[in-house]
Amino acid sequence: MSGLVVVGTQWGDEGKGKIIDLLAERADVVARYQGGHNAGHTIVLGGERFVVHLVPSGIFHPGKVCVIGNGVVVDPAALLEEIQLLRERGIAVEGRLFVSNRAHLILPYHKAIDKESEKLRGIRRIGTTGRGIGPAYVDKMARVGIQVGDLLDADLFREKLQANLLEMNYLMEHRYEIPRFDLEEVFETYQGHGKAIAPYVADTALLLHRALKEGKRVLFEGAQGTLLDVDFGTYPYVTSSSACAGGACTCTGVSPLAMTGVLGVAKAYTTRVGSGPFPTEMQDALGELFRERGGEYGATTGRPRRCGWFDAVAARYAARINGLTGLALTKLDVLDTSETVRVCVAYRLRGETIREFVGSAHDLEQCEPVYEDLPGWKDSTRGMETFDRLPSAAQRFVRRLETLVGVPVQLISTGAKRDEVIEIADPLKAAR
Ligand code: GDP
Ligand code: IMO
Ligand code: MG
Repeated sequence: MSGLVVVGTQWGDEGKGKIIDLLAERADVVARYQGGHNAGHTIVLGGERFVVHLVPSGIFHPGKVCVIGNGVVVDPAALLEEIQLLRERGIAVEGRLFVSNRAHLILPYHKAIDKESEKLRGIRRIGTTGRGIGPAYVDKMARVGIQVGDLLDADLFREKLQANLLEMNYLMEHRYEIPRFDLEEVFETYQGHGKAIAPYVADTALLLHRALKEGKRVLFEGAQGTLLDVDFGTYPYVTSSSACAGGACTCTGVSPLAMTGVLGVAKAYTTRVGSGPFPTEMQDALGELFRERGGEYGATTGRPRRCGWFDAVAARYAARINGLTGLALTKLDVLDTSETVRVCVAYRLRGETIREFVGSAHDLEQCEPVYEDLPGWKDSTRGMETFDRLPSAAQRFVRRLETLVGVPVQLISTGAKRDEVIEIADPLKAAR
């Protein structure tokens, strides 16, 4: 049995898509475990840029099986559109893309609640992607969610939808003061989606169990990142699912015993989209420079990403929460022009020096970063494939991060393309 979890260590957009695409060649199955089409994972192949939202980043390797696990919330229209876009660009998914029958559906009222409740929150808004993700998970936990499998049974789907609309339409009318949803209209639309996604629906937990039993290698693809995890992130400025490595088990139905390693993906600096605390944020020209050099605009919403230095306190926390066995350090090349590279090694909070990540978003908001400055390399690392060829200051930076985080750097990404990477160790080689 061999399962490698690939997890974001920051606030998402660490370059998980690129790393998963790279590793998928050596795996048999790639299983996305949580989130929904709030995610945007970018893969650059040749000169072409692909962004996947729901479909696992392994899809670009013909023949690899891709699973959308039970922990994902699925907007069927978004999934079908993504499948169509891939098809138009020559990527066939038939017979190798499977969606869990237990995954929960995003319905039109979820999207409406997401948008309207953000408006009502005013300055306390989370800055969600507006895709209906949070409200769909609310229904799942409230036990009124509708699952992908329910779509295949018209009577059952209708009954559940009708019951939910009673309550939802009350909300639309009296709380948000927006138009009600029409049962027949939603029913018909979703029946159409149901027919179209039926060939992909499967008991994916069973599929994964069998694959692992046969000795196949499975990659578990996390969306978002540790600091957006609903339990361990900067709550309430988080997404509504378990982005951490632990989620890979409950969100796919695979035992923790099947996991042989956890690869954390970390940018050589930090970004965040949406609201919430961000100790190392740079709201100046340097932040702007990172945004431009790193192309830091949301892959899903196009929003400019907030940028800041690498936060080793947060990374060490991510190492602990996820039990990281290796790190994939991405976007090293974005720092190529910096005179000095800074790393946050501690926080100052109410006159005290703190070395562990702070549990309360309110406290984190007040943390001042304590930096260690390292010399920059002022030379191009773009596309480099061997560690020894990196400028010595870049090597020192990588080694310093490794020491601070306490996890071996196995991959260093030096560009967006698949082969722009330095491989120090194979993350798929079982860590235990
Ligand atoms: P994900 O959500 O974690 O998959 O990351 P995104 O795709 O949202 O954002 C990462 C961005 O950085 C994408 O535009 C990638 O093409 C790009 N990228 C990934 N790795 C590197 C790298 O090493 N160097 C540079 N310059 N860009 C990279
Ligand atoms: P990938 O997988 C970065 C952020 C949103 C918002 C918060 C809650 O590409 O790394 P939601 O719509 O999930 O309820 O929004 O989470 N967010 C992400 N930020 N990358 C993502 O995904 C994100 N998915 C959600 O910006 O702050
Ligand atoms: Mg992204």
